[in-house]
Amino acid sequence: MKFFVTAAKGLEELVYSELVELGIQSAKIERGGVSFSGTLEEACRTCLWLRTASRVLLQLADFPCSTNDELYNGVKSIAWHRFLTPDMTMAVDSVLRDSAMTHSGFVALKTKDAVVDSIRDTFGRRPNVDTKLPDLRINVHLVKNICSISLDLSGESLDRRGYRLDRNKAPLRENMAAALVAFSGWQGDIPLYDPMCGSGTILIEAALKASNTAPGLLREKFGFQGWPGHDPTTWRNVINEAKELRKRELPIKLRGFDISPGTIDMAKQNASRAGVGRLASFQAADISTFAPSSSPAMIIFNPPYGERMGQIEEMASLYQSFGDVLKKRCAGSTAYILCGNSELVRHIGLKATRRIPIWNGPIECRLLKYEMY
Ligand SMILES: C[S@@+](CC[C@H](N)C(=O)[O-])C[C@H]1O[C@@H](n2cnc3c(N)ncnc32)[C@H](O)[C@@H]1O
Repeated sequence: MKFFVTAAKGLEELVYSELVELGIQSAKIERGGVSFSGTLEEACRTCLWLRTASRVLLQLADFPCSTNDELYNGVKSIAWHRFLTPDMTMAVDSVLRDSAMTHSGFVALKTKDAVVDSIRDTFGRRPNVDTKLPDLRINVHLVKNICSISLDLSGESLDRRGYRLDRNKAPLRENMAAALVAFSGWQGDIPLYDPMCGSGTILIEAALKASNTAPGLLREKFGFQGWPGHDPTTWRNVINEAKELRKRELPIKLRGFDISPGTIDMAKQNASRAGVGRLASFQAADISTFAPSSSPAMIIFNPPYGERMGQIEEMASLYQSFGDVLKKRCAGSTAYILCGNSELVRHIGLKATRRIPIWNGPIECRLLKYEMY
């Protein structure tokens, strides 16, 4: 079977490395993600273990498509009864580029009609549509008049781990936080700090990684669990095996600080829901008082960007003040800072030794590496 793992722009290589580490040798980097071939069980396992990916898709068919009829016939020729019954709900997402058909809503509708007709032909009844939480999510990718139909194994996107119920004002997606940790190369062998931790996502993802905890263990459900033919016994074994692999203690400490006490409470609750409450500690503090308690340490954070004009000046002095803290109190340590505003970066007053482009949603950011000697 052929699969495609979607990734935020800039994270494709991390997803590739994770797949190879999971034993998937056929992984290949493509535009927008990584493809691989393997068994359905292998793909389900990737849903549980991938930290930096967005979704895992099962590729069902590719066919030339320039007209309504080609779309309808191509979709209807797929053996839908293998994946969908009349009692399940479905939704269709479509993405179009450089093709004769130009209306994505229409393409989604036509695809839905073909699937519904196919199921009605087989069972005599049709499935209903649920755009929010469907049992089966179908993806249509129509690029240069080639239509690719795939099924989403993930269900809700993989960054929704389930530990973050409250999302603070400027949350970082869980897979993005995991990506910052992966880019830093931190291996759980030196202390890790986030002096602007917000809801704690970076430290929680780091603790999950260092304790070898599968990031999907907390999820109530993945998309494939509602599919006909899903084998709950095999899946339970995959889950139990992941639970066995989990380390309960770490040799080092992870520490988070934030100026907002309410945010710190949220971070503590998130960490304990994620099962890493004992591995990471959180405390309210202004970054101007920050100092790692030993050296070397790894420091990873994403400061506010200050989107409104009035905020920019205030932000400039914040960036200058944490730049001073890094220079004066963090000798021997390495910092990775995710910045979405290049104007603010120069106020840090340090020279980055690495600049990694990452797209945080629509915002083009840089993950900047600073080595403090
Ligand atoms: C972009 S958010 C960080 C989001 C975080 N990574 C998360 O996962 O939720 C920036 C955080 O910096 C905090 N902050 C702003 N000024 C600060 C300061 N002077 N000292 C410490 N924290 C500060 C804010 O309260 C906010 O939670």
